[in-house]
Amino acid sequence: MRSKILGTGIYLPEKVMTNIDLEKIVDTNDQWIYERTGIRARRICNPEGGEFPTDMAERAAWQALQAAKLEPNDIDMIIFASVTPDYKLPNSASVLQQKLGMTNKCTAFDIATACSGFVYGVNMANSFIQTGMAKNVLVVGSEMLSREIDWTDRTICILFGDGCGCAIVGQSEDGEGSEILATHLGADGSGKEFFDQPVGGAVTPIKEHHLKEGTHFMRMKGGEMFKVATRTLADNAKVCLEKAGLSLEDIDWVVPHQANYRIIETTAKLLKLPMEKMIINIENYGNTSAATVPIAFHEAIADGRIKRGDIVLFDAFGAGLTFGATLFRY
Ligand SMILES: CC(C)(COP(=O)(O)OP(=O)(O)OC[C@H]1O[C@@H](n2cnc3c(N)ncnc32)[C@H](O)[C@@H]1OP(=O)(O)O)[C@@H](O)C(=O)NCCC(=O)NCCS
Repeated sequence: MRSKILGTGIYLPEKVMTNIDLEKIVDTNDQWIYERTGIRARRICNPEGGEFPTDMAERAAWQALQAAKLEPNDIDMIIFASVTPDYKLPNSASVLQQKLGMTNKCTAFDIATACSGFVYGVNMANSFIQTGMAKNVLVVGSEMLSREIDWTDRTICILFGDGCGCAIVGQSEDGEGSEILATHLGADGSGKEFFDQPVGGAVTPIKEHHLKEGTHFMRMKGGEMFKVATRTLADNAKVCLEKAGLSLEDIDWVVPHQANYRIIETTAKLLKLPMEKMIINIENYGNTSAATVPIAFHEAIADGRIKRGDIVLFDAFGAGLTFGATLFRY
């Protein structure tokens, strides 16, 4: 049994924070941010308005269900990718199952593979469908990174934003055309210190002094991440193409993780792919971690760029360091 993407959905918080807004918070400026990252604005959740990762996911999931012409109880597995879940316990996938009013007690679990999370989820969904263990898998990437950012650190707070994207992966009927062609997943723990958040876990529970020092937030070695990212995204693409027996010319669209415009540009150069084939929306949302790929994918379908039958590559990397790609005929 092969699988395909049946439908997608997104949710973006209403509150927009521009680079100009950031100029009032830290010593930065719109020109520096835009030139170095390609970002102009990001969205920020409103906690007072009940805008949390599973709330965003619920709204995105209704869109995806409608696009896939399915009811909530048709979903028999939820995979929720996030490094900013609503709670430590229970898991976000179970919370989402309840919010969608599902009564079928389907499998529901979270994965925390950072910015590769959605691609990990899609590839896992593909495997569950191939082995007959699932029929319709809801894969979500939903993040509220604004909670984990040190808003006094200009090297990090300018990069990230909140948002959610999701897709329903289901069975592909024989001869239909739309199908996942190749998948690739991996991790390289030797780079685990390039991007981490060591305080707040079992090893180092948050204490008062962490809160005072601000050492409980995410930390990143931007330069190291940049170098790894470009190499990884290019390698991901090559591995997937080889597995599928296709060449770079066969790709219609690449939906890369949106961490930095220059990373995407360098990857395109390494692969000798024209920038017109790269789906890019980092300008509007910054890096929303596990949500970047599904948001960019959904928007490109909605505005008519990506059409059924196109060959598309999801291509991601993230903290861990994790990486993954999905090559499919949409
Ligand atoms: C973070 C990143 C944008 C930094 O860009 P860069 O070109 O490497 O910039 P540098 O860190 O070398 O900083 C250059 C200068 O700008 C300054 N600077 C840093 N942040 C700034 C900001 N927000 N505004 C203004 N100046 C800033 C630095 O202090 C430095 O000044 P100096 O030369 O006087 O020391 C870039 O490294 C990056 O995008 N990395 C990858 C991030 C990533 O992939 N993250 C997600 C992983 S999933």
